[in-house]
Amino acid sequence: MNTRPRRNRKSAAIRSMVEETKIGTEHLIYPIFLKDGKGVKEEISSLPKNYRWSIDQLLPEIEACMKLGIFTYDIFPAVEEHLKDRVASYSYAEDNFYLNAFRKLKETFPEIVLMSDVALDPYSSDGHDGLVENGQILNDETLPILNRMAVAQAQSGVDIIGPSDMMDGRVGSIREALDINGYTDVSIMSYSAKYASAFYGPFRDALNSAPKSGDKKTYQMNPANKREALLEAELDYLEGADMLMVKPALCYLDVIHMLKENFNIPITAYNVSGECAMVYAATEKGWLNYDLAISEMLLSMRRAGADAILTYFAKDFATLLKNK
Ligand code: PBG
Repeated sequence: MNTRPRRNRKSAAIRSMVEETKIGTEHLIYPIFLKDGKGVKEEISSLPKNYRWSIDQLLPEIEACMKLGIFTYDIFPAVEEHLKDRVASYSYAEDNFYLNAFRKLKETFPEIVLMSDVALDPYSSDGHDGLVENGQILNDETLPILNRMAVAQAQSGVDIIGPSDMMDGRVGSIREALDINGYTDVSIMSYSAKYASAFYGPFRDALNSAPKSGDKKTYQMNPANKREALLEAELDYLEGADMLMVKPALCYLDVIHMLKENFNIPITAYNVSGECAMVYAATEKGWLNYDLAISEMLLSMRRAGADAILTYFAKDFATLLKNK
């Protein structure tokens, strides 16, 4: 045998020297849930270790995460049912708890990168990402609402807009609305290949945002389709997206890899709530080693080609890296 691959694995130092994939806290984006009020820190039952925070409680938490090296946060507001309506008007309303919280965050920590979702569902009485009429999700009628939401978020200091709605033409529409209003520096990380997945359950629990009727299959992608992700990514790229996201991550590593091979802008992966919940549950039962499992999962997303990863494991993983 003149080729023995084990020689390159014979010590920790050699293994580290020939390691192909690196992952650090700079690759992490931390999704966090926000709630109106004061002194609120409510654990999400289907997503343990994750909370709905009021802004006063969240500020020290962000400070702690920054000390661990996490600088990018995707903040999702949990909106009271009585504030939801058909057209998701709370998403851009004046004197609005979540936009005020965004302002406070950026004022307190100007160095963070603040990301926010654009889609109707957390603000919609129908629980859909687009406008609903007679059971149909209207595409073109949804776009002006998305534009308004994106501009309101940009006004409150958001650095990256994340359109997660999967309406056709939304990236171009939002890009134009941002530019007309002077927000040419605000980025768009498009949820390009967003699949109609079983793994969003805990997120919908956190925001109480599940669809009131039907499912999301007329706008989110069919999990069976791969080539279609190229079409979605190409449209978003041509419409002006700065980064392309694949969501979920674990079941779609092939899609991450394909987009990385085909596009010269950053590719991101959303390690969604259900993927994290599985690990929390198995760890609680003593069936998995949490630290090893999350490290391997996040590494696999980077290996597939993700430049950055949105993950609920961000704080725990950053803590692990720090103590390594
Ligand atoms: C809203 C949105 C969802 C997620 C991110 N943005 C839910 C959905 O589309 O139903 C899911 C994130 C997660 O599960 O962690 N459109």
